[in-house]
Amino acid sequence: MLKEKVLKALNNQINAEMHSAYLYLSMSAYFEDKGLAGFANWMKVQYKEELSHALKIFDYVNERNGRVVLEPIAGVPIDFDGIIDVFEKTLEHEQKVTQMIDELMDVAVGASDHATQSFLQWFVDEQVEEEANVNELLDNLRLIDGQGNGVFMLNRELQARTFVDETQAE
Ligand code: FEO
Repeated sequence: MLKEKVLKALNNQINAEMHSAYLYLSMSAYFEDKGLAGFANWMKVQYKEELSHALKIFDYVNERNGRVVLEPIAGVPIDFDGIIDVFEKTLEHEQKVTQMIDELMDVAVGASDHATQSFLQWFVDEQVEEEANVNELLDNLRLIDGQGNGVFMLNRELQARTFVDETQAE
């Protein structure tokens, strides 16, 4: 049985993951509009990853016999100031999510909920990877100044990204 405080924090994180999904789908739409299909694809895969994160917590709450409560999802920006701006905002967002996961872990620790701590460790590790991936992309984009031939090449490279549901690989 989940303690009330832990349940509330987990439900809050489901909402945050759905919000992340919504944000990345909006970024995908922005790239589609700019004719950057590879970047759009990368963001769409990111969107699917976030949905899988939300679902992982959804399933966990149900498994622990908690009540999932789905709150409204906050709005997301629809316009951006170029490719670098999108990825700076993505990094900023992922850093915020990392902080949320840390705070969620603190709630679980405070409640002596060892099962939830164990469950959350996957997200702690995932956030390291998430931030590293975006950082690497951002470094590449800054190298090519977010324009020219480099964008063309990167766009083609990002077209190859496919969604792999890592929440199932345990
Ligand atoms: Fe679910 Fe990108 O953190």
